[in-house]
Amino acid sequence: MGQLEEETRLRAQAIEIGPGEVEVDVLVVPYFQGEPLGPLAAALDHALDGLLSRMRDDREATGAFPKRTAIATLGKIAAPRLVFLGLGSPPELDGYRLRNALQFAVKETRRFCRRMAVVVDEGLVSALAAGDPVQGDRAAVARAIAEGVALGNYHLGQLKTGAHPGAIEELELLGLGTGAEVVNALVEGTTLAEATNRTRELQWRPSNRLTPTELAAEAARVAEEGGLELEVLERADMERLGMGALLAVARGSDEPPKLVSLRYRPRVPANSDKLLALVGKGITFDSGGISLKVPLGMSDMKADMSGAAAVIEAMALIAQMQAPIQVIAVAAITENMPGGGAVKPGDVVSAMNGKTIEITNTDAEGRLVLADALGFAADRGATHLVDVATLTGGAVIAMGYATTIAMGTSPELLAQLRRAGSLAGERIWELPMYPDYQVVLDSEIADMRNSAEKPGASSINGGIFLRQFTGDLPWVHLDIAGSAYHGEALWKPVVPLGPSGVMTRTLAHLPFQMG
Ligand code: BES
Ligand code: MN
Ligand code: ZN
Repeated sequence: MGQLEEETRLRAQAIEIGPGEVEVDVLVVPYFQGEPLGPLAAALDHALDGLLSRMRDDREATGAFPKRTAIATLGKIAAPRLVFLGLGSPPELDGYRLRNALQFAVKETRRFCRRMAVVVDEGLVSALAAGDPVQGDRAAVARAIAEGVALGNYHLGQLKTGAHPGAIEELELLGLGTGAEVVNALVEGTTLAEATNRTRELQWRPSNRLTPTELAAEAARVAEEGGLELEVLERADMERLGMGALLAVARGSDEPPKLVSLRYRPRVPANSDKLLALVGKGITFDSGGISLKVPLGMSDMKADMSGAAAVIEAMALIAQMQAPIQVIAVAAITENMPGGGAVKPGDVVSAMNGKTIEITNTDAEGRLVLADALGFAADRGATHLVDVATLTGGAVIAMGYATTIAMGTSPELLAQLRRAGSLAGERIWELPMYPDYQVVLDSEIADMRNSAEKPGASSINGGIFLRQFTGDLPWVHLDIAGSAYHGEALWKPVVPLGPSGVMTRTLAHLPFQMG
């Protein structure tokens, strides 16, 4: 991982042994609010002289999400400590909550625990299945648990020179049997989550340590490792291709912009001529440009490349998991800075597809770089477009931090994305794109303006803008401005603080839903 330490890799295995006998540093026992304990939890309760049920009776451990109750087992079972992990009531559970619950359990124990066992009663499988048939089997639960534990190993302090906070190195899964589908799901989940953690590391790396050139180099490293074809456009190439929108954003920065494309081809030629393009916004720092942002929270804009990081790491997974169709990732990478050469409000630029744009707000830069990245993807033969971007502050207003916004022109592609999201434990919620919204982007002097004059519906306006650059191709836009990261104390109890790596796993599953 370049300048940083290698992350600890998690080894996960399924075992069949009494939960009291498993020799690990910590036993994690998920349970539900308002439901009797499952047989494995009940067996542990028995071994602990009824301590768990007594704590439930006393309402010390209610099962509310995501309440953790840690106890020392004092030699009554093989594991020295046990964490009773509240999952809420069964109908409230989904794959996102389950992964988050496990992340919290890991964060709290990783300092002094290396080996963790998770004890799963059958009720967990039926609870997930009830909410969402896509997640309705043992493999889905095993994958979710491996992912939750591996995601919990991510830590924010990678640039601190002090001691590493520790990590869970070994996971034992009890209660789902040792069938091949469960074993495979553990391996797959670990792989998916560790790629997600690499996205998180990129997201949170400060902009002075992740310039456009360095992010492009990360993409090149992924290409090399995954045997992917790599194409990097420099400023001169962009000029030749007429990418006036992307170039306009890059003008105020001393760092050269990059448009990076990775291409995956299935080893066995697919009997499908689909070419899925994953297009990511890669603003390594968004100052707002001449339409400068206010200081409060501006440092978060180091993560304005979260979409690009997600498509790059998803590509690594797609190569590893051997997706059945062709996929390209396109990352439009630049800083948005207010340098002397910067684009100014009122300037008009031409995008690669020839359309003219009046730049009324230089802080609406994501849609500009995506306009040309979408044009490039179409030029390279994409048959399906998905873009991922921290596009609008309005996404935070509309959804908070726990859900990604989707808009698009293809119900079928959106349905496939939702299924992929279910497999990944990532939530996607659709906003409408009624044509009435178009008027707010009307310009008197160009084909469109890049931002509305008044606030309101900014996430939808972003989608409406991007639609001008997708031609007739089926397209879905994912606005991850809320779901990509957060630093809010209020949300900290339910959504892990910092970057989430959101959409890395969903996008990795997507081509399998389209094959
Ligand atoms: N990168 C921001 C969006 C953002 C805001 C992401 C907060 C994460 C958290 C984007 O480039 C931006 O500045 N959008 C503007 C658009 C507006 C000027 C139309 C916004 O949302 O205010
Ligand atoms: Mn901006
Ligand atoms: Zn931005």
